[in-house]
Amino acid sequence: MIASQEETPIFRALKKYVADSVLPFHVPGHKQGRGLPEFTQFVGQNVMNIDLTAVEGLDNICNPISTIKKAEELAAAAWGADYAHFLVNGTTSGIQTMIMSVCAPGDELILPRNAHKSATGGIILSGARPVYIEPDIDDYFGIAMGISVEKVVRALQQHPRAKAIFVINPTYYGVASPLADIVRVAHAHGVAVIVDEAHGAHLRFHPALPQSGAEAGADIIATSVHKLGGSLTQSSLLLVNEGFVDPKRVKTVLNLTQTTSPSYILLASLDVARKQLATRGYQLVDRTLQLASWIRQQLSEVPGITLLDETVLNDEGSMALDPIKILVNTRELGISGHELERYLRVHYNIQAELSDLYNTLFLVTIGDDEQTVQTLVDALKAVSKEREQCNIVKYPTYLPELPELVLSPKEAFYSETRLVSIDKAEGEISAEMVMAYPPGIPLICPGERFTREIIDYINILKKEQLNLQGTEDLTVTKIKVVKNPAQISLPQESFARVVG
Ligand SMILES: Cc1ncc(COP(=O)(O)O)c(C=O)c1O
Repeated sequence: MIASQEETPIFRALKKYVADSVLPFHVPGHKQGRGLPEFTQFVGQNVMNIDLTAVEGLDNICNPISTIKKAEELAAAAWGADYAHFLVNGTTSGIQTMIMSVCAPGDELILPRNAHKSATGGIILSGARPVYIEPDIDDYFGIAMGISVEKVVRALQQHPRAKAIFVINPTYYGVASPLADIVRVAHAHGVAVIVDEAHGAHLRFHPALPQSGAEAGADIIATSVHKLGGSLTQSSLLLVNEGFVDPKRVKTVLNLTQTTSPSYILLASLDVARKQLATRGYQLVDRTLQLASWIRQQLSEVPGITLLDETVLNDEGSMALDPIKILVNTRELGISGHELERYLRVHYNIQAELSDLYNTLFLVTIGDDEQTVQTLVDALKAVSKEREQCNIVKYPTYLPELPELVLSPKEAFYSETRLVSIDKAEGEISAEMVMAYPPGIPLICPGERFTREIIDYINILKKEQLNLQGTEDLTVTKIKVVKNPAQISLPQESFARVVG
């Protein structure tokens, strides 16, 4: 019989272990904080007391049969899936697991080109061949949006042997694609749907939000409970539905990618966050939505500030928006997103979630209240007053055209490489990813050919001091490219193509 959502099996078992005053002759070696007094003093004795490991009563994450199993069953029921697996290495490990579960080397995976770098990681590890769908682009904000059913159908027609479709639900900026319809057409073609729900742990708990992956009938869903569901950083969930994927296979792959020493602090935080969402999720999310709506209303009249709102939606690729993500565009104030992020930090002690060329993203969550949102609104109003409106668009807001994919990401990643100056990389095939982080969407992936436009865009991001990642040269002055692309022979028909 399934336990009540009021229960927290892992948290309870940890508290019992502490209450029993068990004498630990096991890892972790700090032995409930005694071996690390400076740290213990700061974080508190209780945190160290429950930093335990897989011993009697605490189950084992690789093959859960008691405490963890019960907690995972409760999570599956709360998110509406057949199975749930707790993850302690973020949604990144969930995304790698999803891709490796559905794709063997050489299999095709259909995915939007704005997928997070963890998807590129999953593609390299599995040896899958990506078939990229170009997402809709919003030219004013300069961001990638959702993908339409029509593009998915075209991709399936052009790649009938594809093993799965990967959907982001929603994007970092909160834009959701028509997921239920995508699931319907994919399943009609006998193809599984895997969902990156890193930014959607809360969706399930309020009807005003975009539909969650499990509700839409997707087959595997990786969700960062730590991002918007209230648990501790790195704790995520992998949800699995029976039918188009083999749940046993998914668990086997997960055991390849996940640690054998999970943090029980993270596991317990998942347990308690699940209880909170399952029992009070609607009220908590509802209040968050009210706070976000108040911010939106307050900022709607502020000169020089434009918010991403429902007017950008359409009935095609971008169906719904998560309103708790406040994306502020300041191009009409003549300041970049990064400048605004730094300005708010230095002058107002406010830290945004991310910034890009013209946008700054602020997340309103179950941890906010009237005072925090008032402080943010006051600061943004003050910035608008302090800055003369100049409407100088310093940089183009369109994103560079998608590059040609010449080699599979795995082939390029494992190929012989040489280092070239980024400015001389035009025409070369990249052996690395380059992305601004966050949001972590690669501008170029291994196997893709550098264009002048991509190089110029990277240089603009460098000039704006956005945090570029993915390359061995941390300054992104030099880039690793494939040494002898002609010597790597792949069957032409299996090269991925972008479905526009
Ligand atoms: C769209 C998207 N997918 C996946 C991830 C990876 O999630 P995690 O940080 O939980 O590993 C992120 C992280 O920011 C993300 O933005």
